[in-house]
Amino acid sequence: MSQARLASCLPLPLDQKVLVNVIEKAKDWALMHGVGMRDRKNFTKDSIQIAPFVLLPSPFPRTEFTKAVELQPVLNELMHKVAHDDDFLEHTLQNALQVDEFTANLYDIWVKVRNEGIAQSVSLGLFRSDYLMQHPDGNRIKQVEFNTIASSFGAITSHLPAMSRYILRQLGHGDMIKNMPENRALSGLCSGITDAYDLFGVPTAIVLFVVEEVSYNICDQRFHEFEISETRPEIQIYRKTLNEIYEETELNDKKQLVLDGRPVAVVYYRSGYEPAQYPSNREWEARLRVERSTAIKCPSISYQLAGTKKVQQALAAPGALERFVRGAASVRVRDIFTGLYALDFDDSGERAVDMAIADAERFVLKPQREGGGNNVYGAEVRDALLRMRHSRERAAYILMERILPPLVQGYVVRPGAPVPPPVVDLVSELGIFGVIIGTKDKIYSNKQVGHMLRTKLADANEGGVAAGLGALDSPYLLDM
Ligand SMILES: Nc1ncnc2c1ncn2[C@@H]1O[C@H](COP(=O)(O)OP(=O)(O)OP(=O)(O)O)[C@@H](O)[C@H]1O
Ligand SMILES: [Mg+2]
Repeated sequence: MSQARLASCLPLPLDQKVLVNVIEKAKDWALMHGVGMRDRKNFTKDSIQIAPFVLLPSPFPRTEFTKAVELQPVLNELMHKVAHDDDFLEHTLQNALQVDEFTANLYDIWVKVRNEGIAQSVSLGLFRSDYLMQHPDGNRIKQVEFNTIASSFGAITSHLPAMSRYILRQLGHGDMIKNMPENRALSGLCSGITDAYDLFGVPTAIVLFVVEEVSYNICDQRFHEFEISETRPEIQIYRKTLNEIYEETELNDKKQLVLDGRPVAVVYYRSGYEPAQYPSNREWEARLRVERSTAIKCPSISYQLAGTKKVQQALAAPGALERFVRGAASVRVRDIFTGLYALDFDDSGERAVDMAIADAERFVLKPQREGGGNNVYGAEVRDALLRMRHSRERAAYILMERILPPLVQGYVVRPGAPVPPPVVDLVSELGIFGVIIGTKDKIYSNKQVGHMLRTKLADANEGGVAAGLGALDSPYLLDM
């Protein structure tokens, strides 16, 4: 696969001595401002280490960045409408449910709670829409996916422009700072939580973060707590695992979720998006209890279902998107879609299977999963499809055209890695954060709140930062 390049913001390599010196400063800046994570190998709550980061901000075309920013409220509203269209969700997820137990469990909760009568009609979305530039298409952005649950790195990446500015100044290039957009994702995301809290309207209520047993990405979560504690000192935040929620909460006669004797106003999930986070029935019971309650969920179970890959694929089918977004806006949204195909047992499903087997490198195969590391790439797409061709299992996947982003040279700084690092080929993925609060009939708030850039080695399929593959970055806007 030959991929063209964008020039790095400064000519590389940097002088060796300068490089070693600036990396030392940058690492300390990162540690002292919480651009950090817990060490997976030697876990201790007493220390954090630097999160992997890219030393110099990576180039990104200004027009495409602006396009993504401007589209975010349109996409927020699209997902909000999808989540409230019961027929569309039912129809779209039907085949995947038969073979994907995790999605089926979420779906069952959704159906059960609707049948009982929804206790809280307001939902809170803290979303992130992810993009790669499609190099063969003039570096125009294409949507990788839309995250509706536990969209991470809004907090840490809010600090990154300041870090990049510091680094550029140390290198004598303070003038370049003007090309780096501000990032207020943290305050924007937190305002979503506090606005939802105010809508709940109970002064004694608390906010509940649903967390993993061990939070490696602790900075990204704690910054939300610190920010809310500064802006709204009266709001208490609790962190609980699903198992603790099972043990420590109850529903009172008003269907309030009660923890420590106080009603929960907002439940913010930073866990609960993958099967391993539900090791027993207790976690599913906890999820159901929360869903039954009057707490405002971030996300509601219908938002979570709307964020499945299957829905993304269904929206790309002719006429589907246009059911939710009309006129010029639908043209703008369609423009960011890349080829997406269902693998159902019908004519178009068979055609998609044939097409991918014939030209596997052009595609990515995706199951209904979040959290990274689940997709199938390259020659393995062919192997997987040959294996699943006659099995119902294949309906749990979607097929997506592989996006080919431009390469850019850079330095990745990782904890424990030798300094100075080599110059490597990288590709960047832009995420735009959005906040939406509303009911089926009324939207109270809908905005774009910030961005993140994460960058990975050009030959890595995926770039999860928490998974140790990607590195935090910030965009250096180019007028091309
Ligand atoms: N169509 C594609 N073309 C090229 N790369 C892709 C494509 N789809 C996904 N990827 C790569 O794989 C990564 C993971 O894919 P995706 O975001 O769909 O999965 P996920 O499990 O939901 O990830 P996340 O944890 O970021 O939510 C992306 O960040 C991107 O680097
Ligand atoms: Mg995702």
